[in-house]
Amino acid sequence: MQQRTLLTNIDGLQGRISVPGDKSISHRAVMFGALAEGKTTIHHFLPGEDCLSTIDCFRKMGVSIVQENNYVEVEGKGIAGLKEPSEILNVGNSGTTTRLILGILSGLPFHACLIGDDSIAKRPMGRVTVPLRSMGAKIDGRENGQFTPLSIRGGTLKGIHYHSPVASAQVKSALLLAGLSAEGKTSVTEPEKSRDHTERMLQAFGVQVEVDGNTVSVEGGQPLKATTIHVPGDISSAAFFLVAGAVVPNSRIELHNVGLNPTRTGIIDVLKEMGANLEIRNEEIRNGEPVGDLVISTSDLKGIEIGGDIIPRLIDEIPIIALLATQADGKTIIKDAQELKVKETNRIDTVATELEKLGARITPTEDGMIIEGKTKLHGDLVDSHGDHRIGMMLAIAACIADGKMALQNDQAIAVSYPPFFEHLQNLVVKK
Ligand code: S3P
Repeated sequence: MQQRTLLTNIDGLQGRISVPGDKSISHRAVMFGALAEGKTTIHHFLPGEDCLSTIDCFRKMGVSIVQENNYVEVEGKGIAGLKEPSEILNVGNSGTTTRLILGILSGLPFHACLIGDDSIAKRPMGRVTVPLRSMGAKIDGRENGQFTPLSIRGGTLKGIHYHSPVASAQVKSALLLAGLSAEGKTSVTEPEKSRDHTERMLQAFGVQVEVDGNTVSVEGGQPLKATTIHVPGDISSAAFFLVAGAVVPNSRIELHNVGLNPTRTGIIDVLKEMGANLEIRNEEIRNGEPVGDLVISTSDLKGIEIGGDIIPRLIDEIPIIALLATQADGKTIIKDAQELKVKETNRIDTVATELEKLGARITPTEDGMIIEGKTKLHGDLVDSHGDHRIGMMLAIAACIADGKMALQNDQAIAVSYPPFFEHLQNLVVKK
């Protein structure tokens, strides 16, 4: 098993970094480029494994895509230009690829098979296959289409109004993408608002999208027009360094060009409420998405309660927020976050198990966790469990831990942040 020695008990983190492109936006830029007419160019694309899985799937459907590091060109021939794949589409570890592609395939008159890794095989797909079937797609798969491997034959769809039981951008996006090939209007209503990159980017590709509170609608039959996308830095990647800057003594980190879409900035609200020294600078709108620079420095923190409609705005940041809470005075309660159980790992379990090894005081609950701070952490052998965000959280935990620490399955980090360790190393204050 792959294992990496982590830097422990460091003397501070100082400097400036530009985090890689946003994962959600990079996926969508490739997908929408593949559905559009003409050449879409993508700048600051995230060449992480998940987004490379998306590129691979569209190449197997006949789309010509050139990718050189973080620059991508997609030659779209319209939705009808996609071809029946002669190979199985491999989605790797990527839930976004799986669910959004299912939406696209639902409207296409051919057959395709989808498979992914062991983690994908455990993730619930019924949340998209059930409503997509009700639009007219024929989907089969393990446990009656609840899990991968899945097989799909798309075709003539009719628009629906779907009330999703979960706030999920992947569910919403899958249905809206199917809706573009459907007859009439497709609407999705969510219990809370999930990230809205699909809505914003479809508009950048010339599609009319109607947003009314937590309901989003599209009319079928609208073509996408190729465009140029500048992907902002991923706030979910920045989150590891925001927390590192706040909890490691003698630190000051500047993060340049970070996406600040309000459906993603829950981590900023939490840091501020806990008392972090955090400044936002140079805010502007690019490609319909807000971006800015963030400056964080070592902070005295206090525990807070996190729940309700902020949860979808920080769902991917909960592992690193749990670490933050171990360094805050008092109790932090995270609730209404049962979605954590169906991420790349069951993140309630993996966060609690791994942080407890380091001496953190965490009680897992049905819908989150309770963390008692402030605790001095000590090194141990920890495991990412194949989950990129658990791996990065543990590498940041090491920075404030005594003794030796090593991470098993560190390769998972390449899913969303290939140069993570290089960026961390560059910030370390020399002894
Ligand atoms: C994503 C949506 C979220 C998030 C995931 C990326 C997206 O998942 O956790 O990392 O790009 O749409 P859900 O839609 O399952 O909440």
